[in-house]
Amino acid sequence: MEKERKKILSGIQPTNTPTLGNYLGALDNWVKLQQEYDCTYCIADLHSITVRQDPQQLRKQVYESYTLLLAMGVDPEHSTAFVQSQNCQHAELSWVLSCFTQFGELSRMTQFKDKSAKHPENINAGLFTYPVLMAADILLYQADLVPVGIDQKQHLELSRDIAMRFNNIYGDVFTLPEAYIPTDTAKIASLQDPTKKMSKSDENPNASISVLDDRDTIIRKFKRAVTDSDSHVRYAPGKDGINNLMTIYGAVTGKTYEQTEKEFDGKGYGEFKLAVGEATADRLAPIQAEYARLSADKKYIEECMKNGAEKAFKSSRRTLQKVYKKVGYIVL
Ligand code: TRP
Repeated sequence: MEKERKKILSGIQPTNTPTLGNYLGALDNWVKLQQEYDCTYCIADLHSITVRQDPQQLRKQVYESYTLLLAMGVDPEHSTAFVQSQNCQHAELSWVLSCFTQFGELSRMTQFKDKSAKHPENINAGLFTYPVLMAADILLYQADLVPVGIDQKQHLELSRDIAMRFNNIYGDVFTLPEAYIPTDTAKIASLQDPTKKMSKSDENPNASISVLDDRDTIIRKFKRAVTDSDSHVRYAPGKDGINNLMTIYGAVTGKTYEQTEKEFDGKGYGEFKLAVGEATADRLAPIQAEYARLSADKKYIEECMKNGAEKAFKSSRRTLQKVYKKVGYIVL
């Protein structure tokens, strides 16, 4: 029999189309991890309404994100790809875990502080308990490893603390999850301010590349990318803009900085920017083609969602029942 593989769980919010940074830094890695791990990937739509959403837009975004995961290479047969709101047990476990999470702990979450500063008109309780729901996502599936960006590390540590606290009271219920922060994936910065990370919520549309941007748009955005007054394509301290473009070029072509420096020796930034744009468009083209193919078949997508939700429900059922019994609920 196949030896039991370690479990991976990760989630992504469906708000906004993923950027090139999300793809190269995270999603492409989700695809690769499937070879080695038992992977569960969740479209975290429950999390999304902590910020006010337009219902029609949210629905559209969930279809889009889910379809994109498949288009990028997440295999819905081999792995579990599902929409969070379609497995009711996330909300149920979240309630129980919230009773094992301290007000003080949640108050210290930097993302809560940032988000409440950004939306002072809507500091809702869901925004505050967001990390508890995330802990439920992870602990329901007994995940060993959780691939996340550095910005989610604090939430992951909290998940671990909650799991430990629960286990200390009730025995071994939860696997203690570990953050899996890959060091070899590219960290992509904004094209307009290369000291900032490329973000899908950036107000300046030229700052980020969406994985669904068409070829001309991609090339135009790279042409406008902020660089410095030097003109040699070389990786050096202080040349954040060029360094970022070289990182992108390397990530999409597999070339090292050295190879790129040689390739563009004696050539200017203009030529280099065009090459980065073209290489990026080439890299995204097959994903976009597959996305177009899949999204024309809504029935198939909904079937995958349904199967995914069933698989997710089944693999998390035992955890929730165990938790309910442990706290003293009657499970019939
Ligand atoms: N909060 C994560 C983010 O915004 C998304 C997320 C939701 C997640 N649930 C998760 C990530 C569970 C990892 C595990 O990036």
